[in-house]
Amino acid sequence: MTIVVTGGAGFIGSNFILDWLALSNEVVINVDKLTYAGNLENLQSLKDGDGHIFVLSDMGDFANISELLKAHRPRAVVNFAAESHVDRSIHGPAAFIETNVVGTFRFLEAVRFYWNNLPNAEKQAFRFLHVSTDEVYGTLTPSDHPFREDNRYEPNSPYSASKAASDHLVRAYHHTYGLPVLTTNCSNNYGPYHFPEKLIPLCIHNALAGKPLPIYGDGQQIRDWLYVKDHCSAIRRVLEAGQIGEAYNIGGWNEMANLEVVTILCSILDELSPRQDGVSYIEQISFVKDRPGHDRRYAIDATKIERELGWKPAETFNTGIRKTVQWYLDHQDWVENVTSGAYQNWVGKQYGA
Ligand code: NAD
Ligand code: TYD
Repeated sequence: MTIVVTGGAGFIGSNFILDWLALSNEVVINVDKLTYAGNLENLQSLKDGDGHIFVLSDMGDFANISELLKAHRPRAVVNFAAESHVDRSIHGPAAFIETNVVGTFRFLEAVRFYWNNLPNAEKQAFRFLHVSTDEVYGTLTPSDHPFREDNRYEPNSPYSASKAASDHLVRAYHHTYGLPVLTTNCSNNYGPYHFPEKLIPLCIHNALAGKPLPIYGDGQQIRDWLYVKDHCSAIRRVLEAGQIGEAYNIGGWNEMANLEVVTILCSILDELSPRQDGVSYIEQISFVKDRPGHDRRYAIDATKIERELGWKPAETFNTGIRKTVQWYLDHQDWVENVTSGAYQNWVGKQYGA
């Protein structure tokens, strides 16, 4: 048996593939365009014969995707590929529309034609799992209930709007064509192989490099953090037992203000890799201009996936964040390699010289 994963060289996709192949013998075809966020080094611990086949392709390349689906006959597709960084979507929304909306549409088309031509039993068993985000629901006030699956879509950034559009296309392909889809909407992930443009890896990287830790606005924006391997276990569970056509919110019941997250990071670093001058990394915190349209609070009500599919995260924030900091300390060579020229250009554009 075989599955196709798109975006498997990115942060969550690579964690998903590593865990998948550690748990099963089922081959994974990894379709990735290798944008700045795609890094095959994330998968270098895999050996020949481990069941990972890499295909360099845009997920929106209908001919390539059709050919590989025909050749490998997957029983399922897990769609991670996307442009994923909110700040980049503010500077340059076009790539987000191109990949997240048009790319997903073209990919759905190729999968639909493949699926339509499968014999009945394979057709019934096939699944298209679309990986999405809680950001499609917009922002919450402090007293709002966390996002449920039936919350209205109210995306506020070009990133979340493009993900919302892709979710709608996936939904429409089920209702119109009967494609057996599943959608997951997860909260903020953290963990190994997280590109150091996002809050947690950026702050670990900057702290160790003696640079400022940039906190947007007042730092009181709330996110609901989940360790990446718990997201991966939830996706496996939804793929295995989710109801066709349903969406599942995934989260760890772990709401935290950004300033608190960075303060915790600093105290773990103070313990595991103290500064030579004995001063806490907290001194490096620096308040900077807020993100335009910055969503104030995200929070997930994970009752549905817990009750219907029996999923629960294995890590608490305390255990997950410690593992993450230790991983970055142990993998400074990985950080060096991804902080390439292209990445430096981004840092200049976003934070100034
Ligand atoms: P990422 O940016 O780290 O990785 C994206 C991957 O997709 C990269 O390997 C990139 O090369 C690839 N890619 C981009 N455009 C492509 C295209 N046109 N064709 C093929 N491959 C392409 O992203 P991530 O953080 O791993 O997120 C993966 C998915 O999970 C995204 O769909 C994102 O919206 C969703 N998600 C992310 C989070 C989070 O906290 N990171 C939370 C919830 C949901
Ligand atoms: P990020 O990791 O970009 O994820 P998202 O925007 O998808 O939630 O940001 C997480 C939070 O941290 C968000 O509220 C923005 C904030 N943030 C900062 O305060 N400083 C930074 O340098 C970055 C990248 C993010």
